[in-house]
Amino acid sequence: MKAKRKDAAHEQQRVERLAILGGKPVCESPLPWPAWPPLFERTAARLREIYFSRQWSFNSPTERAFERAFADHHGAKHGIFMVNGTVTLQCALSAVGVGPGDEVIVPALTWMATAMAVHYVGATPVFVDIQPDTLCLDPEAARAAITPKTKAIIPVHLYGSMANLDAVLALARERGLPVIEDCAHMQGGKWRGRGVGCWGDVGSFSFQQSKTLASGEGGICITNDDVLAEKLYRLKHIGYGRGMRQGQAQSGPPAGLACFNFRSTAFQAGILLDQLEELPALIARYENAADYLRRRLADVPGVRVQARGREASPQGYYGLFFIYDRGPAAQVPLARLLDALRAEGLSGACGTYGPVYRHMLYNMPPDRYRIAGDGTCPVADGAGTQHAVGFLHPWLSSDERTLAAMGDILAKVAERAADLL
Ligand SMILES: Cc1ncc(COP(=O)(O)O)c(C=O)c1O
Repeated sequence: MKAKRKDAAHEQQRVERLAILGGKPVCESPLPWPAWPPLFERTAARLREIYFSRQWSFNSPTERAFERAFADHHGAKHGIFMVNGTVTLQCALSAVGVGPGDEVIVPALTWMATAMAVHYVGATPVFVDIQPDTLCLDPEAARAAITPKTKAIIPVHLYGSMANLDAVLALARERGLPVIEDCAHMQGGKWRGRGVGCWGDVGSFSFQQSKTLASGEGGICITNDDVLAEKLYRLKHIGYGRGMRQGQAQSGPPAGLACFNFRSTAFQAGILLDQLEELPALIARYENAADYLRRRLADVPGVRVQARGREASPQGYYGLFFIYDRGPAAQVPLARLLDALRAEGLSGACGTYGPVYRHMLYNMPPDRYRIAGDGTCPVADGAGTQHAVGFLHPWLSSDERTLAAMGDILAKVAERAADLL
């Protein structure tokens, strides 16, 4: 009897001990990576049709259909389809008139493409701090960073949240600045019921392989402004205006507006048309999963979940992040935290991008960018980088058992964080 009790206590200790320290992992084998992107038979048939139609580019019917459907879905008047979500930002900046000598405000925490687009038009990115709850652009930090050279603001709707559009738009209106929403992570997300991307002057989206709408590569700008829409179209189509046939230009682009070939193809548009139909159901599923994890972790000390956008309805997800910045967890180095989560079975655990100006691939010399304030972004460098761990959106499609295991892992590591020190 005594031996049995001892065995049970020993087993209990083994369960409670972190796997990285020799305890029993929450999952005996790592959780399997969910498959992404999705595959549909009807898309395979559609791609075949496009192939035999010989209408592959130059404003094809499929491209037009996708532009219309995507713009409608987000409540925008125009959609301009392009090759990726970096050139969409670049064209948006050109369209609103940003050029050499100008400054553009961007959040410190984002994928570096947001800042590179600013460099591509010859302007200077000014990195400002993020809000501790949403991990998105801090409107007050943006306000403090404005100078006479500021010509635009790019809020980024990052991972599982949205920038505070009300505050950013109020600031932009007050200062007469255009707003370009970087919605690369936010396909189908709505702010107070209206699609992201059409609150600012231009919304820019990416459809790269890992995104919630994924065509391998692709991007789109949406806007409600007829003049900007025409400029964006000319920018991506080497100067042709909408409705002009190849080789039959009837007018040229505005003087000095350098235009590109950033055209995408009907194949990408065809893939996206089918995925767009599935998007509301996909986001609803993600919302349920994120809600479950929020409830599961609500009373767990040491960890908090990235907050939804303040007026998100629904919230889109490129990923979801968990911030271990309280109690002993706050002392655990990020790499150790990730190793501990992976040892319990959360194989997809990853860190954030970190501030652009610290990214290995960001090779701009310090005189080509500015870090606002006193030259530091404490939240982006701290909670946004050192303490945030997460996973990409396909994990939010997991079944109930897997989600429960994910919640248990995230909680166990928070509760036992002191053991990692
Ligand atoms: C926030 C953000 N902005 C812009 C981009 C650029 O998109 P793309 O990779 O399609 O060029 C990405 C893509 O990864 C992104 O995450």
